[in-house]
Amino acid sequence: ARMVLGKRNLVLVGLMGAGKSAIGRLVAQALSVPFVDSDHEIERVSRMTISDLFAAYGEEEFRALEARVMKRLLKTGPKVVSTGGGAFINERTRRHIKRGGLTVWLKADLDVLWERVNKRDTRPLLKTENPMQTLENLMNARYPIYAEADLAVHSRDVKKEVVVEEVLAAIA
Ligand code: S3P
Repeated sequence: ARMVLGKRNLVLVGLMGAGKSAIGRLVAQALSVPFVDSDHEIERVSRMTISDLFAAYGEEEFRALEARVMKRLLKTGPKVVSTGGGAFINERTRRHIKRGGLTVWLKADLDVLWERVNKRDTRPLLKTENPMQTLENLMNARYPIYAEADLAVHSRDVKKEVVVEEVLAAIA
């Protein structure tokens, strides 16, 4: 499967809780290429957490930083990159992503997403009155855009290894 990538990057997109980081890390291992989580990279260069960035500068500034980080990350390859849920939704960032890699949409059902994000309360976008409703709204608004990815893999509530195999099969 590594051959398929050549010098390109494999970029995982999809909503928060879809498993982009966990699955991405394992896919990178399987392909023997480096793994980068774009949110971690943003936190590293800004020396702030995503939550603090949102709180201090707002979403718009965060998206601008995300776009710059993504552009730089995708200049070289091959590697596997997991993205923040809004990265592929932002037009500028989406352009960088499409240019720099093969995109896989990790698609999950609302109950699975909720189960996963509910446990860790670090997502600024879900600090609302009704976070589950917010998640559903994001799902409805974003799915048509995620659907522009090259491939889609269903991130079901099964062992990670199973989903990893499905990603590898999809890109083979
Ligand atoms: C966001 C998702 C988060 C993070 C930020 C915004 C979004 O990443 O980038 O909180 O817009 O969906 P994860 O998808 O890794 O949670």
